[in-house]
Amino acid sequence: MPPSCFDSGHARADIEPMSLPPGFLDELRSRVSLSQVVGRKVTWDMRKSNMAKGDWWAPCPFHQEKSASFHVDDRKGFYYCFGCHAKGDAVSFLKENDNLSFMEAVEALAREAGMQMPARDPQAAQKADRRTQLAEVMEEAVKWFRLQLKTSAAAEARAYLEKRRLSPAAQDRWEIGFAPDQRQALFHALVQKGIAPDLIVDSGLCAKPDDGGAPYDRFRGRIIFPIRDGRGRAISLGGRSMDPNARAKYLNGPETELFDKGRNLFNHGPAREAAGKGLPLIVAEGYMDVIALSEAGFRAAVAPLGTAVTEDQLRLMWRISDEPVIALDGDAAGIRAALRVIDLALPLLEAGKALRFAVLPQGQDPDDLIKAQGAPAMQKVLDEAQPMVNLLWRRETEGKVFDSPERKAALDKRLRAALSKIADPSIRGHYGEDIKTLRQQLFGREAKPFREWVPRQPGAGGGRFAPPRPVSPMPSTRASLLAQAGGPEEALREAVILATLMTHPRLIARFESALDRCEFTGPGHARLRDLLLIHADADDPRAILAEQRPEAVETIFAHPHVRNAPAILHPDDTEKAEFAVAQDLFLLTTERGRLREIEDAAQDIEGVADEGLTWRLRKATEARAEAQRGPQDKTGDSIIAANGVALDKDELEQSRRVFDSIRFDKGGNRP
Ligand code: UTP
Ligand code: MN
Repeated sequence: MPPSCFDSGHARADIEPMSLPPGFLDELRSRVSLSQVVGRKVTWDMRKSNMAKGDWWAPCPFHQEKSASFHVDDRKGFYYCFGCHAKGDAVSFLKENDNLSFMEAVEALAREAGMQMPARDPQAAQKADRRTQLAEVMEEAVKWFRLQLKTSAAAEARAYLEKRRLSPAAQDRWEIGFAPDQRQALFHALVQKGIAPDLIVDSGLCAKPDDGGAPYDRFRGRIIFPIRDGRGRAISLGGRSMDPNARAKYLNGPETELFDKGRNLFNHGPAREAAGKGLPLIVAEGYMDVIALSEAGFRAAVAPLGTAVTEDQLRLMWRISDEPVIALDGDAAGIRAALRVIDLALPLLEAGKALRFAVLPQGQDPDDLIKAQGAPAMQKVLDEAQPMVNLLWRRETEGKVFDSPERKAALDKRLRAALSKIADPSIRGHYGEDIKTLRQQLFGREAKPFREWVPRQPGAGGGRFAPPRPVSPMPSTRASLLAQAGGPEEALREAVILATLMTHPRLIARFESALDRCEFTGPGHARLRDLLLIHADADDPRAILAEQRPEAVETIFAHPHVRNAPAILHPDDTEKAEFAVAQDLFLLTTERGRLREIEDAAQDIEGVADEGLTWRLRKATEARAEAQRGPQDKTGDSIIAANGVALDKDELEQSRRVFDSIRFDKGGNRP
């Protein structure tokens, strides 16, 4: 297994822009024929066009249309579309249509016009010349490998390609070749073309043995995939062995003056052009994935070149598309690889630039998936791609239990550390908000149950979030509330409510009606409740109560369970306290089976909890009330709740879990 190509890689600065001498652009514009540049991408409407006048018309390449509203004025060197109002010159045409940067477009046009691009300095010019030479050698090699695929020696290779369902037309499109299993076949062929042996070695095609003998071919007995840079120059090769037991499944050309693995992407040029036309940029792991994707219509597909995704490659992707989609294997290694990309990407994020992650069915790469289930299955995977923040969240939470303040704090710390890597303050802020929402879903208010991620399964639909379920309690707190009806626990619950409200007086008004209706039966509790309601607006109601009913207040706070209740331990966490009171009031009323009081309590909870929880609580209460009364049906599989709603076994179980989890949420150390 090769190291995943998404491993973090080396970083390097971006290519610096060079300045153009005055007049260069004007000369360029006058030398290139716009109709020639545009003509490669459109089909002229010859009836409407008037060649003699330099007047050309075609269906617009920038928007979908059948008529020819795209006009090129060859003499002026400008185009204009009467449909979508696209307009510009040759440079902007290449920028828009081929998705090139300004300098890349200028370079491409200069080459076409035979104009020398201004070199930054003589050294740079020399280097450029040398690279051109190497690229020419590489181009010759590509041609030669292509020819070899037609020979009788390549029968096995052709059979292999057929087995992988690469049609001859696709083989042509990808310029696939074959390296015969001979030591010097390519070397001799290139030398015969008059290429200097040193240049052949420097191109990486052949290697010189340490003992100083004649150079030998690096690629032998392999299918050849030419690698081209963004401008279409052949810069290296990938070679796949047909032998499943080969030591290296893929062999990639070495790093040379021409080939910098970390700064190139397989299929860069065509993908850039396709992305410029609005196709999503998909980042796959291998050559065959890119080819399969592209052949299936996902033409903006790229792959790193046998190495980890690098910072430079990320920048390159972002120049092509604002939101590249990383296609990942759905297994653990794939997810780990994604996480490494995230670490690489976080510091680089800037406004408008993002990543998405498309999770493939376990054990399948895009090539496998497309072969097995076709393009629609791949489209579905892409449609379900996750934003980066979700993956980040999953990394920190999946498979972990946050059942203590310490663990929650540790999570917060890790999340903060991840967010702090984001350099752009605005993006950092937005990530923070998203994380906060996810966090709240997990345990912020203990209300919305965490929706766990279910990965895609082969043959099944896409990955998805599981239906909500209550956060499951720890085994130690599983003892069902249903088993302990009424009794002294009720008085204790009242005590906790009263103590909490004394500690968080701002909550009194919030629960006014529920408090009013709720029966307080503990020693002096009803009176304390009344006093709380009366002094709801006082600065320190606890002091007033302590003065008027010292014994009752002292008894309440003397109880260890009250003293250790989270809401008492954290007098500054009003949010937590609010939810605790809501739950306790709710439970207090339901424990007494007073169904008519449920609605009020539920209403009070509503603002705090989500509708789902309220509904489940109500169901649970109904079930509970019925269970207390006894008439459970014979099978025990369902019971009829007081209001006539039948709960099935699952719902009943869920109700129990909800109760258990509420118990657990409250600290779990209730006697
Ligand atoms: P994979 O092992 O996932 O292979 O390597 P693949 O792309 O699915 O290839 P097929 O479908 O078996 O033909 C993913 C990529 O990792 C690099 C190659 O770039 C490959 O495309 N790789 C893999 C290597 O560089 N060397 C290897 O030995 C294997
Ligand atoms: Mn594969």
